[in-house]
Amino acid sequence: MGRTLVTERLNNSLTVLDNRTGKVFTIPIVDNSIPATAFKAMTASMASEERAENETEKGLRVADGGFLNTAVIRSQITFIDGEAGSEYNRGYPIEQLALHSTHLETAYLLIYGALPTVPQFEIFSKEVMHHGVTHADAELFFRSFRYDAHPMAILTSAFAYLGSYCSEANPSLQGQNIFTKGDEASLARMDKQIYRLIGKATTLAAMAYRVRQGREFVTPPTNLSYTGSFLYQMDHMSEENYVPNPILEKALDVLFLLHADHELNASATTVLQTGSSLVDPYSAIAAGCASLYGPLHGGANEAVIRMLITIGKPENVPAFIEAVKKREKVLSGFGHRVYKTSDPRSFIVRKTADEVFNITGKDELLETAMALHEAAMKDKYFIERRLAPNVDFCGLIYRAMGFPLDFFPVLFAVPRVVGWLAHWRQASIIEQLYGNKSLIVTFFQMMLQEGGVKIWRPRQIYIGAGKREYVPIGGRVAVEGPKVTPSVVVHSGITKRTNLATFKGKAAAKL
Ligand SMILES: CC(C)(COP(=O)(O)OP(=O)(O)OC[C@H]1O[C@@H](n2cnc3c(N)ncnc32)[C@H](O)[C@@H]1OP(=O)(O)O)[C@@H](O)C(=O)NCCC(=O)NCCS
Repeated sequence: MGRTLVTERLNNSLTVLDNRTGKVFTIPIVDNSIPATAFKAMTASMASEERAENETEKGLRVADGGFLNTAVIRSQITFIDGEAGSEYNRGYPIEQLALHSTHLETAYLLIYGALPTVPQFEIFSKEVMHHGVTHADAELFFRSFRYDAHPMAILTSAFAYLGSYCSEANPSLQGQNIFTKGDEASLARMDKQIYRLIGKATTLAAMAYRVRQGREFVTPPTNLSYTGSFLYQMDHMSEENYVPNPILEKALDVLFLLHADHELNASATTVLQTGSSLVDPYSAIAAGCASLYGPLHGGANEAVIRMLITIGKPENVPAFIEAVKKREKVLSGFGHRVYKTSDPRSFIVRKTADEVFNITGKDELLETAMALHEAAMKDKYFIERRLAPNVDFCGLIYRAMGFPLDFFPVLFAVPRVVGWLAHWRQASIIEQLYGNKSLIVTFFQMMLQEGGVKIWRPRQIYIGAGKREYVPIGGRVAVEGPKVTPSVVVHSGITKRTNLATFKGKAAAKL
């Protein structure tokens, strides 16, 4: 019946025939995408055996666990061509930026959309660098961590902590639309938080570094670059006129620039998801930091080195590769959700590594890394799956520069603050023409989105129990088995001794 409607369809559209009902739906294709909400119109009556929780009468749902093919924003910031192995920041190839630009200049580009002029950059960098100093009480906060705290745990907490000093930038306290109005005052408020967060990211990271070394904190210096100031804040003790090595300063700047943004990776998505509740930007950045910490994302640069240390020497590479193929081990630093041929950043990392190794000497793990690279690149398993080295071999540079292993994800998170904020601030352009009609496209950006922020609330497919009546405790039949009952855990230390002790209300227990 619905077939006749096919002739009416516009060229750039998708025609869907719902076999349950015979109805035909024409869905506009905009920028090679279809709105998932269009499927909500595809309702059907419940089949007799169907579960009510399927909500079939409320329309079809689109299932995409892991976001394998779901676009959640329209963005103008970064484009990655996974097949060609290229990355463009606001249209500029990453190689050109790495060669000619700096991290702070690229930050301006990512956030505001154009490369800055001299006066524009002067204002921006002055604002960012001026915000490096923290409240004196921050010292107490950093000193409250245990000596062996992972610096990412410290940094993640530190961003949330920082927000507690900025009540004027908290929508929960000052009004929900303080960032979304788009007027001059709201833009200025938003940009001030951006300056603060970028400016203080290095300070917080350096404090996380120093507290574990048992060092006093230093005031951020003046007249050094962003990464120069960062190195100073980590390394300066009591030397007069301390200036970090310019080659290391430049290498770190290039690595920062490479890490500044990478479109909708896990942490950027987390920042946007968190930010969509209109929480303050400090909390959103803390959430992004937590997401980045994982070994499949920003934690991979640390995981690469731990992996190389485990392999130990080039002779052990073949056995390791075999273990990876049997899925007993993970080859960190290889593979990417988007890049399927090569990661353009990995070539810049190699060049930067040569420059750093020239003055620091080669890292002892380099030969193992090269052997691993060579073995994986010619192995059928990796070729078939199109797995190539990603940016995370930069861990070798960080190691050569003398950073502790667990600090590597911090060296990723600090520059990524820029990308997170660029996405958090991004303005929407929703004007779209479909045929001769103007179409409202339901993709979302963040704070400067036309019409206000839409909270990110995905759907689920509920497969759990249907409605049932509460049973009082005495009348229940035990449900037992792995994964469906709380695990039995091993107690040690003080808990073990306390379990064996007797005290009022408790007899001695058997372990
Ligand atoms: C980055 C990463 C999470 C991307 O994951 P993804 O897009 O979901 O890729 P998939 O898990 O679908 O991988 C496809 C196949 O390649 C395999 N694969 C992917 N990365 C692999 C790796 N590093 N080592 C071994 N096998 C790998 C998967 O097991 C899968 O094999 P299968 O089809 O036989 O099941 C993944 O490549 C990975 O874990 N890499 C190591 C961690 C890392 O370096 N992360 C930093 C990324 S910048």
